[in-house]
Amino acid sequence: MPAQETWQEFASAAARHASKLHLSSVTGKMRGVHRCVRERHPAVHRIALALYDSESGLLKTFADSGTELDGCSCRLQDAPCLVEIAERGEAQVLDDLESKVTPALRRGGRPDGERYRSTLTLPLRQENRLLGFLFFDSHDSGAFPEQVVADLLPSGHLIGMIVIQELSAIQMLVGGLRLASEFAHVRDLETGAHLDRMARYARLIARELAPSHGLSDEYVEHVFLFAALHDIGKVGVPDRILLKPGRLDDEERELMREHVAVGVQMAERLIGEFGLANFANIDMLRNIVSAHHERMNGGGYPLGLAGAAIPLEARIVATADVFDAIVCSRSYKPAWTLDLAFEEIVRMSGDHLYPPAVTALVDCRPEVEAIYNRYQETPPH
Ligand code: C2E
Ligand code: SIN
Ligand code: SIN
Ligand code: FE
Ligand code: FE
Repeated sequence: MPAQETWQEFASAAARHASKLHLSSVTGKMRGVHRCVRERHPAVHRIALALYDSESGLLKTFADSGTELDGCSCRLQDAPCLVEIAERGEAQVLDDLESKVTPALRRGGRPDGERYRSTLTLPLRQENRLLGFLFFDSHDSGAFPEQVVADLLPSGHLIGMIVIQELSAIQMLVGGLRLASEFAHVRDLETGAHLDRMARYARLIARELAPSHGLSDEYVEHVFLFAALHDIGKVGVPDRILLKPGRLDDEERELMREHVAVGVQMAERLIGEFGLANFANIDMLRNIVSAHHERMNGGGYPLGLAGAAIPLEARIVATADVFDAIVCSRSYKPAWTLDLAFEEIVRMSGDHLYPPAVTALVDCRPEVEAIYNRYQETPPH
């Protein structure tokens, strides 16, 4: 087991690292490309990206060169003009795309002066898989004559490659870490269903907090991706503790708490092996693994951070994790009902959990129930 010094060493290394990141998010890179594009084509008022999730058939805005928080999604099927572009695999200029994409992929009801009147749309594909679309938007109509399109296509392909590269790197990381995490949870008699649920609760909370906390779509999606990895360090906890039917004694509790330091080490090693040290938002993964047991009043572990010193993503994940842990049966406790779990997290709000995150979960009760019913435990084998 790593000693306290090892943990502190990792914590300060992670902090040094984190300050170097932030620079290279997809959004940041798109802003850079957008600046270059605007020098040549001032009528390109925005570059936006929507990603396609083949599992749900949903198209979601993900990154944006402007400052708007779009956060909209629609079914690809409901936007026949985009289906056609995806099938043909070629860029296309459309006038007044907004009115054709229903329900509005971009926020509807835009004041007339802010409306995008012409759009150059590029499908983003990897091999034969549709990844999403890139939009060059203009408030002017007819902003994309042939000459301009020819000039914009290389920038479009560049952004497409940046996105594909970042997405496949992150998908590899998450795949690898998730495997390790599921392995840990199998021993824990927790199931993949716990991870499915808590990651979705975390995303709901992040989405609810987005307007008041200025969170981007990219932040919300990364909370979802990384939430399921919070307990990867449990793989390092001995079975006699992890699977103990009763309450832990003090010594066992100390060893159990090491799962945070072990998780941070595993995350660092995997980040190194996957070459992801410069991936934007990778500090969110570190923060979630390292700070998901901190409490608002400073009474948590391992560092006893309090309030705003606890990274927001860790406060969000803590709320989702505790909520689902209460609802699940564990070797040491029976499952509680949703009603009791809601009562319990409200009781924990303030001292332990971040009150706006608790409120967000309570406000989303219908969605919470839908997720709870959809991702049921499979019986232990
Ligand atoms: P876990 O079971 O995934 O629980 C995660 C966190 O959810 C816990 O962190 C705790 O803050 C919260 N939690 C879980 N169940 C309840 C509940 O019934 N009521 C309330 N109010 N909160 C709950 P914590 O306490 O730091 O524990 C971390 C991990 O240590 C747990 O993960 C579990 O694997 C283990 N653990 C904690 N207490 C015991 C215990 O008494 N016996 C055993 N065998 N394991 C324990
Ligand atoms: C526990 O019983 O596992 C912890 C209770 C709490 O966090 O309030
Ligand atoms: C969500 O979109 O956050 C939850 C919906 C689901 O996957 O069941
Ligand atoms: Fe944990
Ligand atoms: Fe958990």
